[in-house]
Amino acid sequence: MSRWSLESWKNFILDQAPGWQDSQDLKKTTNQIRKKPPIVFKDEIKLLKKRLSRVHDGNYFIIQGGDCAETFSDFNGELIKNKLNILLQMSVLLSYKTSLKTIRIGRIAGQFAKPRTNPVEIFNNMEFPSYRGDAINSLDCNLKSRTPNPLRMLEAYNQSVYTLNLIRSIINSGYTNILNANEWDLDFIKQSPQVREYNEIISKIQQTLSFIKTVNRKSENIKNLELYEFFTSHEGLILDYEQALTKYDALDKKYYDHSGHMIWVGDRTRSVNGSHVEFVSGIENPIGIKLGPSIDKYELIEIIKKVNPNNEKGKILLITRFGAQSIEDKLPEIIQLINKHELNVIWMCDPMHGNTFKNDQGIKTRHFNTITKEIELFMKIHKKMKSIAGGIHIEFTSENVTECLGGFQNIENNELLNRYETACDPRLNNQQSLELIFKLNDLIIKGSKDV
Ligand code: PEP
Ligand code: CO
Repeated sequence: MSRWSLESWKNFILDQAPGWQDSQDLKKTTNQIRKKPPIVFKDEIKLLKKRLSRVHDGNYFIIQGGDCAETFSDFNGELIKNKLNILLQMSVLLSYKTSLKTIRIGRIAGQFAKPRTNPVEIFNNMEFPSYRGDAINSLDCNLKSRTPNPLRMLEAYNQSVYTLNLIRSIINSGYTNILNANEWDLDFIKQSPQVREYNEIISKIQQTLSFIKTVNRKSENIKNLELYEFFTSHEGLILDYEQALTKYDALDKKYYDHSGHMIWVGDRTRSVNGSHVEFVSGIENPIGIKLGPSIDKYELIEIIKKVNPNNEKGKILLITRFGAQSIEDKLPEIIQLINKHELNVIWMCDPMHGNTFKNDQGIKTRHFNTITKEIELFMKIHKKMKSIAGGIHIEFTSENVTECLGGFQNIENNELLNRYETACDPRLNNQQSLELIFKLNDLIIKGSKDV
């Protein structure tokens, strides 16, 4: 086996290659990015790993989520703050109801590249290269916009920096302090039946904290609850970009990818002989691996051994996205094989990508009930097999969009186009996201009572 290097991925098969046209522009851009400061820092990556290592013993639960694809146009402070709100609300609800600690990981500050099943899309009877995420081409439908342009990676870098800068400042201002939880509400969810329960929970927590403060003068540090911690993630699809932000740390004698805290490899690029698995096998960051119905379980064992040869805890997150229809067929035998090999992995459920379909009008959507069904089966299977369900991975937005069917608002097919704004896959709106957590809490509580 040849040795890993920053460039060794180039000797492997590159699935979902961006298709850059101009190698001079590519070289110029990656050289520029290489000289830029890190987006995330080594100590933060190590902290995430430390937190993740606790998921294996069942005390922490991961909530990972955000847009399917971030875009350059849909970018402003309010939107970022609102996405942070949702993750916070979900965390508080989950911790309060289930006594589990949470780890928040956004699909944010770097989620700019998309793998595509079809290399072309048809519009007005004309064929165009598919949209591959704003770091590669533009959603606008003309040939020039759809041509992969390496200069866009620079913009993706810049927007990731601005986004994380804002997140850090929101957190430093104390906004994520539970005592400020009344400010996290968004207007439109006030109609939701769960909002009353949510508000009751928040006020109970606040009363308890203020009581502790009254009786214990030294309790200022209750402000520093782990809600202050927030991590970023994206699919490490564009290896030119990931390579440019990966640096050798002479002290640790290890490579860190400074583009985001956690990097995942998508379902279409996780071949053991592929460039993506090769690249992530050399970096220290926690690595997600998406598993769809086409996974070969024996290949998976090879992938895990390659990416995590020391069987470290907190390193590999297996994000299953089989779909509610296939999960019972696929997941149990994979859990069994992983257990047989005694591999340390964190199991997460992505209930979105295996449940996508096109409705009669050709609109890509997902039904809330199918999404929750996959989570339910995921929890049930892990419980039965005595393995730990470690987290969920979802696509949501803070806007009141109408992209996924169902939920309390009961969004129907004829309403989907009212606010269908995603650049790629359909996302849960704010209310559906909260509903999902209520449902998840019930499943976790039910599971623990069934013991
Ligand atoms: C995604 O997470 O947006 C995605 C494309 O997922 P998958 O690789 O699981 O299809
Ligand atoms: Co998606």
